[in-house]
Amino acid sequence: MILPGMAHMYATGQQATEIRTPKAADAPRIHGPEIYGVRPGHPFLYRIPCTGIRPIRFSARHLPASLKLNRRTGIITGKAPGKYGEFAVELKAESAYGEDSRIFKIVVGDTIGLTPQMGWNDWYTFYSHVTAEDIRNAADAMIASGMADFGYQYVDIDDCWAREPGSGDPQLSGPARDAQGDILPNARFPDMPNLVNHIHSLGLKAGIYSSPGPFTCAHFEGSYRHEAADARRFAQWGFDLLKYDWCSYGQIAKDETRTSLQAPYRKMGGIIAGLDRDVVLNMCQYGMGDVWRWGRQAGGNSWRTTGDLGLAKDNSLPGFYSIGFANAEHNLYAGPGGWNDPDYILIGTVGDARHQDSGVRQTQLTPEEQYSYMSMWSLMAAPLFFSGDMTKLDPFTRNVLCNAEVIDIDQDPLGKQAGVVRKTSAEFILAKPLEDGSLAVGLFNLTTSPRAIRVNWSDLGISGQPMVRDVWRQHDLGSFATAYSTKVPAHGVDLVRLVPKEAQ
Ligand code: GLA
Repeated sequence: MILPGMAHMYATGQQATEIRTPKAADAPRIHGPEIYGVRPGHPFLYRIPCTGIRPIRFSARHLPASLKLNRRTGIITGKAPGKYGEFAVELKAESAYGEDSRIFKIVVGDTIGLTPQMGWNDWYTFYSHVTAEDIRNAADAMIASGMADFGYQYVDIDDCWAREPGSGDPQLSGPARDAQGDILPNARFPDMPNLVNHIHSLGLKAGIYSSPGPFTCAHFEGSYRHEAADARRFAQWGFDLLKYDWCSYGQIAKDETRTSLQAPYRKMGGIIAGLDRDVVLNMCQYGMGDVWRWGRQAGGNSWRTTGDLGLAKDNSLPGFYSIGFANAEHNLYAGPGGWNDPDYILIGTVGDARHQDSGVRQTQLTPEEQYSYMSMWSLMAAPLFFSGDMTKLDPFTRNVLCNAEVIDIDQDPLGKQAGVVRKTSAEFILAKPLEDGSLAVGLFNLTTSPRAIRVNWSDLGISGQPMVRDVWRQHDLGSFATAYSTKVPAHGVDLVRLVPKEAQ
């Protein structure tokens, strides 16, 4: 029997694997960001992330009059207030098992994406075979698996939904645009508005993909010379996020100066800012021209800082480490409204980017590596997009993706990305300041044997005797006078939250 709050064991193929995330309590518990940005007068859609046995009755005090809460589903809809302002809404969830409440601050202003986006993207599961049915199933699974109850919200279609000019496949061929020049989906997406409506009906948001070049990376139709029409079309369909992938724009750009690198993003960023709905702009150009320095000014809400994680080379360590190490260097550029994006979380049952036709299989990462991956991404305030198969979520993968206290570190309203405290061939330490004055610290063991890792409070610039909390297991370890020292498994992590006396 699994008792709430107890770590338990889950048997995978060869080894017994510790599930560290405590089982969610029966009583309601509200999760997700504490702060949420929306532009004045724009459509509003937010499903209150909440665990606990349903039925749950939701209520919200001080909700702006233009918004409406469905008390049964916890989905808030309507239009944002027309004027700039902040609304401290008190959300409440009640059931036969208990109740929970929390303040959810709605900030009506120019900035959206006040915390990193969370969701799912189809690329590493479906590649060029993706269909509307796959996307719909993933959205349904986001609800059924409980992932949405922890704040996962965006359901993103990646490349290959449009037509593929010159394709021999009748499902993908045909004119890429209609007589008005509007972009057409391929036959695998027969009714885009219907698909987006379905995602919205669940309280989730929908993402789409294009390229500023004539073709996408997989050689499907791109937005070059149709930028405004495409943005309008995506908004009409109801999309809430656009991933805009450089790809063939290399043929168009005159040179590699920063001006040329910025041009297509400034263009699309400007168009998106003028739309009558909020569309998050995820810039994908692999870090060229130090994008972290100017992504926000170009209109981006996040920007990939590296090449594709699924293609990153495994040297002595799996590929996510080198991507993480590189992304960690740009911590000063991340903040509310604009985030460094080190790419998706590739765990669970997931496809191989080098063999895209070979289907999905269980990740080759060890359990410890998976805890390290999720901890690193959360400390780096990275967008959290799972890209494995949503319909094949096993208990271990769900435990990695859905630990409320780990996610809280990612979603912390202060919006700081962790700084690098130590980086050697054996140890990596990241520290992220949080809004309540605590510090989240990840101690990563990069070696292949267990290792004692120690961090002194002086290394972290803190004093006093903070309470040290084990974040994955969600329990306090006690007060420590000058340092924290811990034995970390091979390729594993110890993720702790140092809570100063004042915040306890
Ligand atoms: C690039 C991107 C990936 C994915 C593919 C689609 O490689 O970096 O994330 O979108 O294109 O073709």
